[in-house]
Amino acid sequence: MKEKVKKAFSEKFHAQPDVVSRAPGRIEILGNHTDYNLGTVLSAAIDRYIHIAARAVPGTKCRCYDMVLKEEREFDLNALSEKQSGDWSNYIKGVLVELKKLGVSVPAFEMVIHGDVPLSAGMSSSAAFEMATVMAVTRLAKVNLDWLQMAKVGQGCENNYIGAHTGLLDQFSSLRGKKNSLVFSDFRTLETDTIPIPKGTAFVIVNSMVKHNLANEYNDRRNSCEDAVKCLARRTPEVRSLRDVPLKLLLKTRHRIRQTTFECAAHVVGEIARVTKGVYALEHKNLKLFGKLMFQSHESSRLLFQNSCPELDKIIAIAKRTPGVYGARLSGGGFGGITVHLVEEAVAEKYAQAVAAAYKSETGIEPQTFLCQAADGACIL
Ligand code: GLA
Repeated sequence: MKEKVKKAFSEKFHAQPDVVSRAPGRIEILGNHTDYNLGTVLSAAIDRYIHIAARAVPGTKCRCYDMVLKEEREFDLNALSEKQSGDWSNYIKGVLVELKKLGVSVPAFEMVIHGDVPLSAGMSSSAAFEMATVMAVTRLAKVNLDWLQMAKVGQGCENNYIGAHTGLLDQFSSLRGKKNSLVFSDFRTLETDTIPIPKGTAFVIVNSMVKHNLANEYNDRRNSCEDAVKCLARRTPEVRSLRDVPLKLLLKTRHRIRQTTFECAAHVVGEIARVTKGVYALEHKNLKLFGKLMFQSHESSRLLFQNSCPELDKIIAIAKRTPGVYGARLSGGGFGGITVHLVEEAVAEKYAQAVAAAYKSETGIEPQTFLCQAADGACIL
């Protein structure tokens, strides 16, 4: 894809790019909505990427061409606050605004974007776009940011420019991914580690084809988590986030908080515990236990956090009865998008076809399915 994007760049702008960057999408494996609660997550960067080719030009006008959408955008570096609602160029402008806050002055540029991360599906195409952008434009600005600064630029773009109050999971995964490994992220210490994925397994992605829009319901759930913390902190001041809440304390507080708030908090507290058990299971190559935790995670999303939907539930019900599966769950924000399935590698193709056929016959919806591998994080090529 690197050659493709370079070729498109020279055809479009009659010059060679100064830089080509690449950032992967991600799948969330265990630990749902725990990142902004300062919890832990197991995720993976995957072999689906956004590629960006760019070069600096004089003046203040930027021109960006998206090869997939076949669309071009032009904007002025002095008018970055002019947002077009729902437009893809907002991700570039939002990154530039955040970089400006850090004192990074990016020159005007021409840019070509190409990618194969499914859009609005829960695979963090937006974080991949932000991380490929931040890598390319900081190179043009001749500035080196460390990975945590880059991740925070992406989060700032989401929170302040796009209006989605997301955590740092997507950016962490896109930057810290490692081939054949899961990324373990701790959002209290802001550190990551990698854990090898046991051999003989594969990840199958089944897209429910229900497009999700994270801005509204996501922010709602986040508010519920914050409400729970406020309520718990009244009597237990050392509680600053749901990471500090043992299940026992949450249960004791049950009668003092609204039911939906309690259920959201119980989901997050349960997820953090499942991540700990998941790490243990991986270390002991206990795939049966790991898969069971994935199914439990989905059930908790469905019943407690209520960020599933009938289509996602249907896929997980089909997964449970399909041979070759260890575990499956929704992945990412929820409310639609993809499901991730940990399966025996030898039957992965067959498994994907069987789940897709059953989903099609039970819902009439043709799902997109693919096998993916854990990949290395974002880089300059
Ligand atoms: C989205 C957000 C992440 C994280 C997940 C849910 O992907 O962007 O920050 O909260 O949802 O775990």
